[in-house]
Amino acid sequence: MADDLELRFERTVQADSRIEPRDWMPDGYRKTLIRQIAQHAHSEIIGMQPEGNWISRAPSLRRKAILLAKVQDEAGHGLYLYSATETLGADREDLTTKLIEGRQKYSSIFNYPTLTFADVGVIGWLVDGAAICNQVPLCRTSYGPYARAMIRICKEESFHQRQGYELLMTMMRGTQQQRDMVQDSVNRWWWPALMMFGPPDSESTNTEQSMAWRIKRDTNDELRQKFVNMSMPQAEALGVTFPDPLLKWNEERGQYDFGTPDWDEFWQVVKGGGVCNEQRIAHRRKAHEDGSWVREAAAAHAQKQAVAKEG
Ligand code: ACO
Repeated sequence: MADDLELRFERTVQADSRIEPRDWMPDGYRKTLIRQIAQHAHSEIIGMQPEGNWISRAPSLRRKAILLAKVQDEAGHGLYLYSATETLGADREDLTTKLIEGRQKYSSIFNYPTLTFADVGVIGWLVDGAAICNQVPLCRTSYGPYARAMIRICKEESFHQRQGYELLMTMMRGTQQQRDMVQDSVNRWWWPALMMFGPPDSESTNTEQSMAWRIKRDTNDELRQKFVNMSMPQAEALGVTFPDPLLKWNEERGQYDFGTPDWDEFWQVVKGGGVCNEQRIAHRRKAHEDGSWVREAAAAHAQKQAVAKEG
């Protein structure tokens, strides 16, 4: 019986069909999904902070409206993803506790500060661009609820990327000071954006199994290369350069060569030692505590409704 279930699971995965919440799945598959989807959800929620920092200082009503919409979308993405973890039996409260106690990760990228408004544009272009590169293949991930959430999320991420690129185009048509701001921002975000794809394949503990289960569809290095190839022509069109002397077209490979990110910095940030880690978690903790009355009121209302229904 157990063998039949396992065989059916394997066949479904190999046929590129979806595993659904009520289907049998190996414990490791469930655990890996909860880990990855929760980390992804936490990233969306923590990711609201660096840009939220600029909502009240946006230079025009139009830019403020765009930024507000984008940050709200990120809250929505977090909620779809937490819902996807719930279909696997995870408890949202427990995941939030793990995040604010530093027992679960979120993306390294959100531990860097947003120093100027150009950062809003560069985050849209490069950070959301990297997110799209990583997440479009996840629309074909083997777990149904995650794959479906990704379809909607990618559509919204695409708007996020375009608003960033359009903002940068506008700044590049402006004064020399504005162009310098854009270049400075690109210099600060390029390497952290490359780190978003995770450690090199040789140090990636989860890739092999996640690829076998078709949770991940490409390796970290494959996606990083794709992102570099995609970003170079965009940088040229914009009129900025990336801070990497090794970055150049390799005719033989038909791809760009590029330098090695500072993996010591990456691990330091992942372990909590980035510039903004403490601030991000303290802010999330406070928001969660400040919201406790809403959760209590919702629970009390639900209980009243249930009693009324029974009566
Ligand atoms: N930031 C923080 N931690 C990371 C990062 C990163 N950029 N990349 C990898 N890690 C962690 C992994 O979580 C793993 O730790 P764990 O085993 O304790 O969980 C460890 O480093 C080793 O990495 P991998 O074995 O390569 O991990 P994995 O197979 O999960 O691949 C990846 C990492 C590519 C990020 C994958 O989890 C993924 O595709 N996730 C979904 C996308 C996502 O989370 N995006 C968030 C940022 S985008 C946004 O929010 C706009």
